Parts: sequence; structure tokens; C-alpha cells
Amino acid sequence: MAGVYAVGAIDWDRRLFDELIPLPDGTTYNAYLIKGSTKTALIDTVDPTKENELIENLKSLDRGHLDYVILNHGEQDHSGTLPKILELYPNAQAVTNPKCKQILMDLLLIPEEKFIEVNDNETVSLGDKTLEFIIAPWVHWPETMLTYVREDKLLFPCDLFGSHLATSDLYAEDEEKVYGCAKRYYAEIMMPFRTSIKKHMEKLKSYEMKMIAPSHGPIYKRPEFILNAYKGWISDHVENEVIIPYVSMHGSVEKMVAHFVDSLMKRDITVRPFNLTKTDIGELAMAIVDAATIVIASPTVLVGPHPAVVYATYLTNRLRPKTRFASIIGSYGWGGKMVDAITGMLGNLKVELIPPVIAKGYPREQDFRALEKLADEILAKHKGINIIT
Ligand code: FEO
Repeated sequence: MAGVYAVGAIDWDRRLFDELIPLPDGTTYNAYLIKGSTKTALIDTVDPTKENELIENLKSLDRGHLDYVILNHGEQDHSGTLPKILELYPNAQAVTNPKCKQILMDLLLIPEEKFIEVNDNETVSLGDKTLEFIIAPWVHWPETMLTYVREDKLLFPCDLFGSHLATSDLYAEDEEKVYGCAKRYYAEIMMPFRTSIKKHMEKLKSYEMKMIAPSHGPIYKRPEFILNAYKGWISDHVENEVIIPYVSMHGSVEKMVAHFVDSLMKRDITVRPFNLTKTDIGELAMAIVDAATIVIASPTVLVGPHPAVVYATYLTNRLRPKTRFASIIGSYGWGGKMVDAITGMLGNLKVELIPPVIAKGYPREQDFRALEKLADEILAKHKGINIIT
């Protein structure tokens, strides 16, 4: 697009984000320079680890001039190079909404006089290009906003619609690959904010879009590709699927999970077990984006669930998937409160709890029959919400 330049950086080696989220495909920190007929603006900056790349990219394009730095989001992977940019371009001003301004003053100690505040639907003119700011809180911080170039019909949504994918493709050419990375990104970062995203996507319907340029992953030349993917993920529709995060210490839970998986398959229910001692937690997050049911399986350790199960349950609860049903299977040796502990950690989920199946020691015949009954109940629940044809 004329006058718009990608000036961000590719992080091929990054494997963990926020010291939490696995990044098997690396990521990018996208920043964009927009040259209008009278003014020049930089949309977002990059992670401080990639500061030099942004500065070199800018030097090759801007001949030492920058009027505005637009900050769509305060998180440091997009804002962290702002202090350096403002030092290199002392006449440039940081443009953002009041909430983001406060966050940037707190996180990066930027002086207040460096800012121009903008509010919803306000604009900044670059001459022949008009930047419109769309306040879109909670995707995924409270201060997030989107920037729209009216003349080019180009949207810069920062994190929203992004994907953690290091690639030399500037555009989303391999849509199958990008779909998987964008879904992982949605699951790990955006899913708790499904309701906010629904509202923002309604608002975005009034904006014609030729291109969407997020701040992670490739640019969408076909905006409908990512918009349609999001429509599915944020919808209330769930799939005929059961997700089973589990841990087994001495084989009892493993035996129960194996029998349960087999029972679900016999009932034509898609099932995905995740051994939590081996799984990439991001894979689990992706799986719960659209599954109708989650069944958590744990042995009893120190009177409670296995710590790996506690972590997966905590994360699932914080990610707030649209899962409709939940249950628990597991075993114990001499007592404990494993079921109560897991149930107590699911408060954020709007799920109907199906009675658990707990074996004393190694599972016996009655435990296998109980697992089959649980599979029958799940089948009936899935039929009840019309996801089995
Ligand atoms: Fe890509 Fe919320 O930072």
C-alpha cells in the first residue's frame, strides 16, 4: 500500500511469552511507518530486544523525521522501544488514549508532555491520510485501541487478530499455517475477552477493510479470512468434542482415561487426551476453544489434585472457554479432597458439572462401567444442545 512500510522485527528464536505462553513458531513485533503528504507516523514500536532493528528500518525510510508515534497498546512488546524513539526523534509526539497514556507513564516513565491524547473516533491528519482511533478496551488490556487509515481502508488492530508466527512472508500467504497460529494466539491471549471482542467486531462492521495489519504475525490481505475465523471462535457454538487433560502417577488414571477415550470414540464423540507431563499447554488452550466438554483426570496427591492438574485447571478457568459441560475422573489410595479442589477452581466457567467417576486404587469393573455411563451422559448432553446430527 502506497506510503505504508513494515518496519518491525522478526523474533525467530523466542519460545516463551510473558514467561508463560509457549511460542513454538516464534513471533514478530510489527511496527508500521505511514508517510502522509504532510506528516509521518509510526504505528507501535517493537520489543526492546529488537530496538536496533526498528531504528535501522526507520533510518532507511524516514530521513530523520517522525511526527507521531501511535501507541495502540501499552504492553512492552509494542511500546518498549518508545523511550528510545522519543530520544532519537525529540520532536515526535506519542499519540494514544488517556488510559494507555497513564500506563505508558507508569511502565516506561514517559513524561506527560510527550503525549497527545485521543478519544474514540477522533482523528489525526497526515495530509492525504487520516488516522482514526477506535477505542477497543480489553483486547487484552483495558487501554487497547485500534487505528484505521480511512483513505486506505487499512486497520492496525495491534494484538487483536494477531498470530505468534515468525515468517519471512509479510502477508498471510499460507492461510492454513496462519490459521493454526492465530487460533493458538486467540486461545492463549484473547479467549478470556470473548465478550469484548464480540462488541468490537460489531462496531468494526461499519468499517470497510482492504487489509488488516496486526502487530504479531503476517498481514491479512483478505480481512475476511481472519474475521471469519474470529466469528467462529467467539460464537457460542461448540463442537462434539471432549478434552481430557490428565496426569497418571502409577497407571490407575491412565487406565481410566484409556477406557474413557475408547468409550467416547465408540459413541462418535471426538476426544483429545492431553498428558499434562508431556503436552504443550498452548495445545490444550487451542483444544478448549470450541470443545463442548472438558473432563479433568487426576490422581490424588497430598490429599488434592496433582500439581500439574492444578496448573491446567487454573489456566482453563482463567482462559474462560465457552465449554458447556465438565466432569472429573481419577483415583485415590486412602482419601482426600481431589474432586472438591478441582470443582472449586472452575468458578469462571459457565459449565454444567456431570458427576465424577473416582476409583479407589486401580480401576475395577464397576469403575469401567461408571466411565461408560459418563460417556453416555456426555452423549446425551451433546445431543441436548444439538451438536450431534
Ligand atoms: Fe503483543 Fe499485549 O502485547
